Amino acid sequence: MSIIFDKTNKTITLNTDNTTYQMVIGKFDYLLHLYYGPKASGDMSYLLQMYDRGFSGNPSDAGTDRTFSLDTLPLEFSAYGNGDYRDSSFSVKNVEGVYGCDLRYVNHEIIEGKYTIPGLPSAFEENDEVETLKVELEDNAAKVSVTLLYGVFSKHDVITRTVVIENIGKDEIKVCRAFSASLDILNSDELDVITFNGRHGMERCVERVPLGKGAVTIGSRRGTSSHHHNPFVILCDKTAGENNGNCIGMLFLYSGNFRAEVFREYTGSVRMMMGIQDDMFEYPLGKGEKFYAPEAALCYSNRGFTELSHRYHEFINDNVIRVPENDEVRPILVNSWEAAFFDFDKNKLLKLADNAKELGVEMLVLDDGWFGNRNDDNTSLGDWNVNESKLGCSMGELSEEIHRKGLKFGLWIEPEMISEKSELYKKHPDWAYQIPGRGFIRSRNQLVLDFSRKEIVDYVFNAISEVIDNAEIDYIKMDMNRSITDVYTRNGIQNYGVIMYKYVVGMYDFIERLRKRYPKMLIEGCSGGGGRFDAGMLYYTPQIWTSDNTDAVERIKIQYGTSFAYPMSSMGAHVSVVPNQQTGRMVPMKTRTAVALAGTFGYELDLGLLSEEEKEEVRVGVKEYHKYYDLCKKGLYYRLTNPFENTEYAAWEFISKDRKEALVTVVTLDTHCNAPVNYVKMQGFDAEEVYKDEFTGKEYSGAALMHAGWPIPNIPGEYNAFQLHLVRK
Ligand code: GLA
Repeated sequence: MSIIFDKTNKTITLNTDNTTYQMVIGKFDYLLHLYYGPKASGDMSYLLQMYDRGFSGNPSDAGTDRTFSLDTLPLEFSAYGNGDYRDSSFSVKNVEGVYGCDLRYVNHEIIEGKYTIPGLPSAFEENDEVETLKVELEDNAAKVSVTLLYGVFSKHDVITRTVVIENIGKDEIKVCRAFSASLDILNSDELDVITFNGRHGMERCVERVPLGKGAVTIGSRRGTSSHHHNPFVILCDKTAGENNGNCIGMLFLYSGNFRAEVFREYTGSVRMMMGIQDDMFEYPLGKGEKFYAPEAALCYSNRGFTELSHRYHEFINDNVIRVPENDEVRPILVNSWEAAFFDFDKNKLLKLADNAKELGVEMLVLDDGWFGNRNDDNTSLGDWNVNESKLGCSMGELSEEIHRKGLKFGLWIEPEMISEKSELYKKHPDWAYQIPGRGFIRSRNQLVLDFSRKEIVDYVFNAISEVIDNAEIDYIKMDMNRSITDVYTRNGIQNYGVIMYKYVVGMYDFIERLRKRYPKMLIEGCSGGGGRFDAGMLYYTPQIWTSDNTDAVERIKIQYGTSFAYPMSSMGAHVSVVPNQQTGRMVPMKTRTAVALAGTFGYELDLGLLSEEEKEEVRVGVKEYHKYYDLCKKGLYYRLTNPFENTEYAAWEFISKDRKEALVTVVTLDTHCNAPVNYVKMQGFDAEEVYKDEFTGKEYSGAALMHAGWPIPNIPGEYNAFQLHLVRK
């Protein structure tokens, strides 16, 4: 029983193995939040402190009691219009345009198992016993009901949340904001907010700022979760670090426009919120209609970021990612993009396949350029017919030959897009988003299909299925290469936010259909690299191309930032050529391999052009990938350095849960004459045990590795990589 209702105190308590979350049905049936922290028992209502505070209003039920104000109380789900002047999680408007809502508790239910959300990703029960709490709130004047849903994942120490809004009146209402999670925290400590921000080619850089009275707000208005801000936020103690301090994470399982906000109020309390972007969002609900918000996943740790990440990693691996039916060891792939770009034919691809086979690479992925007339990125999106004259054969023949060589075969698609130069555009110019009377905003010279319309999703799905049906396709890379604008739909409601929500639902529907029709096919997500790297996509695609930036040194930072929420086994990571095509940097092959081995491993270069020495490195990489697969996939990941702060070296570690085996990787980031010796301190070992490094045969004490560290050899040269495979004796 992880959810407990105490009839006497009217508290509802959600317990996971190590955390407790408590709310109370307070005076006048307002649902108040009391506690989220380490496992605790009893009634936490004593935390509520009420004072007569100037300029904070009192609801009419309170009569002349000037101490009861929603402006100062911690609310379980805050709404605009009941005297709470803070930014709130919910806002609704009636037919006359009157805003305002006053939500009161009506009833609750404790249900075995995990709730689901129609058309949207939501964590499922696997390796955990999950209970659902359903609390109904209502405002009978605004004629709206709000159902709060909580999924309690005990073993994983995660609580998921979402809301369902229903019109319980006769007239239409407009939902102007419906965030998925809202957390009011009574806390006077100094706190920091951590967000993960970036740009195309440099995603999820870690930014930590002190929490003040003004809000820390991040979000997206790009139609995707975006390269620029990730839908994940951590609120933590000012002193919190990897292994110490309180921290709360809020992760959004949604791939479209979002908003996350954290601020402190004058009373000292803190509000943290996550939900769909409410900018230009007005969702109309007729009588009896419902709006389903996406899901947010909350996690708390009082032992710092490492534990928080470990909990999210396991939760995402066990309860979010749905793997293909035949999910074996993920194949090592070679992708044609950085190897050939648009310049390929059957012979070139078969040669790449031969080289791949010779070196132990297991799958060839044919990236962009195989369809319509696509020989550059200005044309043919939408024309999902195989360019047989370019290839020199059909896709069926190509895939068959590649399979005959003993390799798997994968294909790139970008279903949500349309080029003006395409047959599809000639036929259906109205399928692209365009505001009547206005020119397009072009981006990469392409337009976006209106995926909020089912007939368009149907068309694209059928066209792409036809290609897959007529070939042997083991893997799909599903890309999305621009941000959305010119949002106007030819059938439906002309509200930006509504169309963008329906677009995401349409896009999810597309992948869900792919999954159902080809249950054994692996799908990798992508949006110009990591522009849609979020837990919503991971529900459909077990891995996502982390970034278009394949420079190993930059990748260290990108993979570091991404690892705060997402498991390493979800990060597409490939070895590419030097000088690197994005940055021009020279990095040794061993280092490029070591960095890519931290994610889903592959190559993104012409294997035929490698030197014998480099080919040997590929063979070693392939062997290592298989040798350490279980360790990296099921083990715990430790960030041993912060590459945004430590510019001398970077280090990370995978260690098995039983602490018997670890793989530690160190990369030097700077080089000096007569340099001091740097020591890498490792984590998670058994202090009393001795570990042997399988590469050198040297033995180390677990305690010494953690407390004194391992001296990084001073070897001349840039970006040297060192690996230790430590096995407990
Ligand atoms: C995006 C992807 C790349 C590649 C190109 C093809 O940028 O992130 O990996 O597939 O598109 O156009």
